[in-house]
Amino acid sequence: MSSPGGSEVVSPGTLGGMTKIAIIGGGNIGEALASGLVADTSGAAAEVSASDVTVVDPYAPRLDYLRETYGLATTDDATEAATEADIVVIAVKPYLVSTVLEQIASTIDANDTETVIVSVAAGVTLATMEAALAAGVPVVRVMPNTPMLVGKGTSAVAGGRFARDEQVETVRGLMEAVGTAVTVGEKDMDAVTAVSGSGPAYVFLVAEAMIEAGVQLGLTRPVAAQLAAGTLEGASAMLVKGDKSAAELRGNVTSPGGTTAAAVRGLEENGIRKAFYQAMEACAERSAELGRPSSDED
Ligand SMILES: NC(=O)c1ccc[n+]([C@@H]2O[C@H](COP(=O)([O-])OP(=O)(O)OC[C@H]3O[C@@H](n4cnc5c(N)ncnc54)[C@H](OP(=O)(O)O)[C@@H]3O)[C@@H](O)[C@H]2O)c1
Repeated sequence: MSSPGGSEVVSPGTLGGMTKIAIIGGGNIGEALASGLVADTSGAAAEVSASDVTVVDPYAPRLDYLRETYGLATTDDATEAATEADIVVIAVKPYLVSTVLEQIASTIDANDTETVIVSVAAGVTLATMEAALAAGVPVVRVMPNTPMLVGKGTSAVAGGRFARDEQVETVRGLMEAVGTAVTVGEKDMDAVTAVSGSGPAYVFLVAEAMIEAGVQLGLTRPVAAQLAAGTLEGASAMLVKGDKSAAELRGNVTSPGGTTAAAVRGLEENGIRKAFYQAMEACAERSAELGRPSSDED
């Protein structure tokens, strides 16, 4: 294992003694999670230092980058990283999850510590992962989303049949290092995928449409883009504040007979709600389809 470049030990926190974390897959999600964990000084990850986090990836330059940028420990050997790890996060493409589990199963079984396996892979079920590991290994499934790349992810966490509540809670706390996280039952994961997993794409599509419409109305593209992005950020901040529902917030800016009322009417007449119902139903169905044992697609 390469020695970390400059690990920074952060203040003690509430990880309940779980400190050694292996992240298998140093791509977008692996990097976002690892960097968030070492930067977080307040939540469940507060006691995690960069040297506690080992990232596994087959590509040496990628490992060099992760070690030099964040001071993380790195290796190309998954079994080495999984040895006596408290938590192993699998962050490879869904079709590679079974290969990784096969690689580390006997190591996990032989560990003196009770290692919790966490997967962020879309559509790979808890039952599939549990079947690839020795009986009793706790497994937790997480559905993150891409804003995690900027520390603003929204994750849903579901524990398998051998995962104790406090282990699920620890994983939820770790995901809060890169945004917000809720605990759900696995049966809700397809609906979660439809709301938050794929949700950022709907917002980007709305932004795209607003920018195009702004250009049609005579604004330059950069001005329309800045106005649309700022509006989405501001409106999101009001929603996240949580003291008013989305319907109330919309009602408050919709004066009778006014400009916003005219715009909202246009969206309603064009079936915006029906479009969302249909789109999200299709998303949840596709997610369920990908989770069936015969499917190995992403
Ligand atoms: N990106 C998202 O928005 C998002 C959202 C929700 C869930 N997820 C899930 O997160 C997971 C990772 O997605 P991603 O976007 O981070 O993918 P990614 O950027 O392709 O990262 C995966 C990394 O794992 C490496 N890898 C491949 N085989 C490996 C092995 N056997 N051992 C260790 N590392 C290995 C890959 O290396 P090479 O490239 O060299 O093969 C790559 O660096 C996926 O399962 C996806 O479903 C992603």
